[in-house]
Order: sequence, then structure tokens, then C-alpha cells
Amino acid sequence: KSDSTYDYIVVGGGTSGLVVANRLSEQKDTTVLVIEAGGSVYSNPNVTDTLGYGKAFGTDIDWAYETTAQEYAGGFSQIVRAGKALGGTSTINGMAYLRAQAAQIDAWETIGNKGWNWKTLLPYFKKSEKLQDPANYPFLEGSGVAFDPAYHGFTGPLKVGWSSNQLNDGLAQKLNATYQNLDVPVPYNRDANSGDMVGYSLYPKTVDADLNIREDAARAYYYPYQNRTNLHVWLNTHANKIAWKDGNEATANGVEVTLSNGKKTVVKATREVILAAGALKSPVLLELSGVGNPHILSKHGIATKVNLPTVGENLQDQMNNGLKFESKKTYGSDKSADYVAYPSADQLFPNSTALGAELLRKLPAYAAQVASANGNITKARDIYRFFKIQWDLIFKDEIPVAEILLSASGASYSSEYWGSVPFSRGSVHLSSADPTAPAIIDPKYFMLDFDLHSQAQAARFIRDIFKTEPFADMAGAEITPGLSTVAAGADDKAWSTFIYSKYRSNFHPITTAGMLPKELGGVVDTSLKVYGTSNVRVVDASVMPFQVCGHLQSTVYAVAERAADIIKEQS
Ligand code: FDA
Repeated sequence: KSDSTYDYIVVGGGTSGLVVANRLSEQKDTTVLVIEAGGSVYSNPNVTDTLGYGKAFGTDIDWAYETTAQEYAGGFSQIVRAGKALGGTSTINGMAYLRAQAAQIDAWETIGNKGWNWKTLLPYFKKSEKLQDPANYPFLEGSGVAFDPAYHGFTGPLKVGWSSNQLNDGLAQKLNATYQNLDVPVPYNRDANSGDMVGYSLYPKTVDADLNIREDAARAYYYPYQNRTNLHVWLNTHANKIAWKDGNEATANGVEVTLSNGKKTVVKATREVILAAGALKSPVLLELSGVGNPHILSKHGIATKVNLPTVGENLQDQMNNGLKFESKKTYGSDKSADYVAYPSADQLFPNSTALGAELLRKLPAYAAQVASANGNITKARDIYRFFKIQWDLIFKDEIPVAEILLSASGASYSSEYWGSVPFSRGSVHLSSADPTAPAIIDPKYFMLDFDLHSQAQAARFIRDIFKTEPFADMAGAEITPGLSTVAAGADDKAWSTFIYSKYRSNFHPITTAGMLPKELGGVVDTSLKVYGTSNVRVVDASVMPFQVCGHLQSTVYAVAERAADIIKEQS
């Protein structure tokens, strides 16, 4: 193994990495190696069980990255989970298959990524997907699930659909009626994956509906193809850094790895090194390889190969809280309710126009605050451009501003929620030249007050749902936080104690190697190639320039599908 040479080395056999490895190895004369730090979880019940969300947390297949103490949110640190296994985070995630509002992907082009918009990405969402038509599954009768075939793929590798866990006792319909009875109704949306997410929907998941098991990237993109002789996977192998060709140009010729037996070696790549280690690892791998901010690199004795100070900057995540209410009915543990509401600003905020005007006035100060928090590595004027586009998305394009989930279990209803588009931005950087050392992850959760306001307003909105018929009649008292902890009518400040002490990362980190024009702080160009290098790309969630309102995986799959086409075209 140690003296092997491949055309392409993909670092990270996760959600995006396995897509790219699969597509590149469709070319029989092309050799591809995937380097994956974790092992196979093909028969790990914590992975396969469609009702087992959370069981893998804290086990050896969870990187469980820890953030710094979050100074704007009570001083607590947070755990950001990520899968350490063949299949990556798709093996431990919540399986929700929800894309973005079309306008959000169009914003990728607006900020300067020519050719990246909803219209050009939709074919790749479809290419990756194999939607399992609910009409073929009698157990879904009465469940209310629906989809619009115009927006789905039916022949891709990734199975998407609804399993026999889907609740079909009328709850979905009652919740819909409740949304329609709100003072400002949230309309029913037949298919939240159409590019228009606003409304109340029953969303599909990455499940194998026939076997009732999780569908992950390895099951979709690797196991059915594992006999390809030109596709190799090295499991339990840690990538340490990119190996460069001699000379001034930054041309990768391989990757230094630590094999499962502890031995270090360099494996050669004749064409490209493709980073797919996830948004909290790929930027750190770049830094370990000398691509990044010279001040940070020199502190750790790493020579600068490419001066690219924004590597690891622009980190965006969302923050997740939950409310819980008593239920008059007792629900079994063999069913799950996958119901989502995506309210727009007008639907969430009682005073949307005034709020928008106030936020617009604050944007320059927000941008200055973000820039100064990272030592002006990202420039206030550039951040302002992002923020103005984000403002337009919220108040002109009317994208969803929150995600409200509802689940029923035992004698309670739980509602996880988050503001979809926080403005706060942080960073991830290496802490040492030792590639196994934990990185310094600082998302700066709740740095900007709009983020707290959205989070608090979403909680108020959930309280309204539970006061509205027919739901009001089905639910009992609020258990979490409870009116004695956060009083009815509480302001943002009063909500903040609960929010800061109970929130968690929503596990949607992005933009740490952002696809953006270089002058705006980009790390990769529109072909996902790292600026200043001739043959290093990043294809994972790190490249997404703006947060999406859905969850990340569908967009990660689509971007990776497109990345593979770009790489094929360019080589
Ligand atoms: P991903 O993490 O998949 O892949 C990176 C791979 O690189 C991993 O396999 C890792 O082990 C490997 N790696 C890292 N460093 C390495 C090194 N140095 N050497 C070798 N290998 C290395 N999304 C969604 O759409 N619906 C949902 O319901 C959820 N729910 C959810 C829950 C939880 C708990 C999490 C953590 C995340 C989600 N998400 C989600 C998010 C979504 O799953 C996630 O954004 C994508 O799977 C990320 O795909 P990537 O390819 O970017 O990284």
C-alpha cells in the first residue's frame, strides 16, 4: 500500500467524498483512493436504526468536536458532532432530506460565483436522488406525505423517502389545521424540496423504505460499487497533510497519512488531491499543509506555501433549542413524526417591516463587529456585502427565517427549532502542527442580537402553536422551559437565559473554505479549486458560501455531484 500511486486522492470518505470518489471512478482508466479516518459502520445498529437518532453520539464514530467557551452565549462550550466512519456524518445525522430556498442558492451567484444558482444545481440534486414514491408503500396510507415529481430524481444512488416509522394517526393533518388557524397562517407546502420551502410540510428522509434502515453515503455511493478495481478505500487511516511537489508552485503530489498500524507514509496522487474531510477538518488540513494565514501558521512552525488568510474564517452554524409540552395522547416509540414548518419573516415576526428596517441600519455595525472579532482578516466591507444579500433574502425574497420541527413521543410533544440564517460568524483554526490535535473552533454563537431575537421569536411562535386549535386541545402544559422559567410575554433578555443554557450546535457548520471571489475572502474558486494551488480542491460543506434553510446533506450531495463533473471536465 505505502508505495501506491493514484490519479486522485479523496481525503475523507464521508458524505461528499464518496460521491466524488464514485463518480471519478466511473472512468475505468482512472484510479481513486479514499482516505477515511473511521471504519465501516455497515452493520452498526446505532447507524442503521431509523429510530436511533442520537445513539451514535459520544461513541467512537463521533468526532465530537469541542468549541471554545462561547463568550456571547453564557460562556459554555459546545460539542459539534460529525461522523467518523465510511459515510461520514451521513451515518449519524437526523436523515432529514431538505434542500434550500431557490433564492438562497441564487445568492451564491450574486456574491460572485458565476454559474452557481438554483437552476444549475437542481439537476445535481436530482442526479443524486432516488425518490421512493410513497404510493408504492401501503404503510404510508393516511400519513399525509406528498411530493412533486418535477423536483425529484428517481434513478440516482441515494434513496430518499418515508419509512414504515411514519406516523399516520392524523397528527400531521391536525398540525396543518393548527398552522392554518394562526393569526398569520403558515400555508401548507406539498413539497419543501421544490425550491420554495416556506410553509408547513411533511419532509422525506434518507432512508431505505424497503429495508427500513438509514441510507447513508456509503450505502448509496460505495458499497454497491466496491468491486471496482480502480476505487480503493483505506479505512482507519488519518490524513495528516498534503505533500507538495518541489518548487514554488503549490502543486500537490500526494497526502501524508498515518496508517491504521501507526506508520506514517506518503501516498502519491498524479492528478489531484480532493479534500472532503468536513467543514471543521478540511480548513485545518489546509493549514497543516501550509495554506492559510501566515501569522497562524508561523506560530506553529508551519512554512507558508500559499498565503490565504481566510482559510478557516467565515464559519457559520445555527443554534438549536427545544420546547416540550405534555400530550393528552400517549405515542408509541415505534413511530416518528417528521413535520416541519418554515415561516417567512412576515409569518414569524409580528413587526417584520420595522424589524427589517432596524436590522438594515445595524448591518454596517454588525459587519464591523465580525471583522474586528477576527482581527480584520475578513474585511467589514466584504462582510457587509454578505449581510446585505442575507437581508435581501430575508426581507425581499422572503426565505424561511426559522425551522420548527415537531415530534411526538410518549406523553409529550417536542419542538426543536432554530433561526435559519444567523448572522454571527466565527472561525476554525489549527491549535498545533500535530495533525491529531483538536482544532480551535469558535463559532461565536449569538454574537449578533438578531440571532438571539430570531431564536426567541421562534420560541414564542411555538407557544402560539400550542395555544391554537386543534393543537391546543391535544396538548397539556408546557414542560420545557415552562412558564415559571420563562414567563408568558418574556422579552429577548428573559428568553436568553434559557436559550444560552440549553442551546446546542445545530451541526450545520459551513463556509470555512468558502467558494467566493478571492477578493471577498474566498478559499476556493467556482471550480472548487483552492486559490493559489494548481490541483487541490475542497468539495465538502466547507465551500457553501451561505447557510441554507434546509439541512445540509442534500446540498452537500448536490455540490459534490457537480464537483465530480467539474473535475472530469477539467482533467
Ligand atoms: P462528512 O463529515 O460527511 O465527511 C467527512 C469525512 O472525513 C468523515 O468521514 C471523517 O471521518 C473524515 N475525516 C475527517 N478528518 C479526516 C482525516 N484527517 N483523515 C481522514 N479522514 C478524515 N443534514 C441533513 O441534511 N439532515 C439532517 O437531518 C442532519 N442532521 C444532522 C445531525 C447531526 C448529529 C450532524 C452532526 C449533522 C447533521 N446534518 C444533517 C448535517 C449533514 O449530515 C452534514 O452537513 C454533512 O453530512 C457533511 O458532509 P461532508 O461531506 O461535508 O462531511
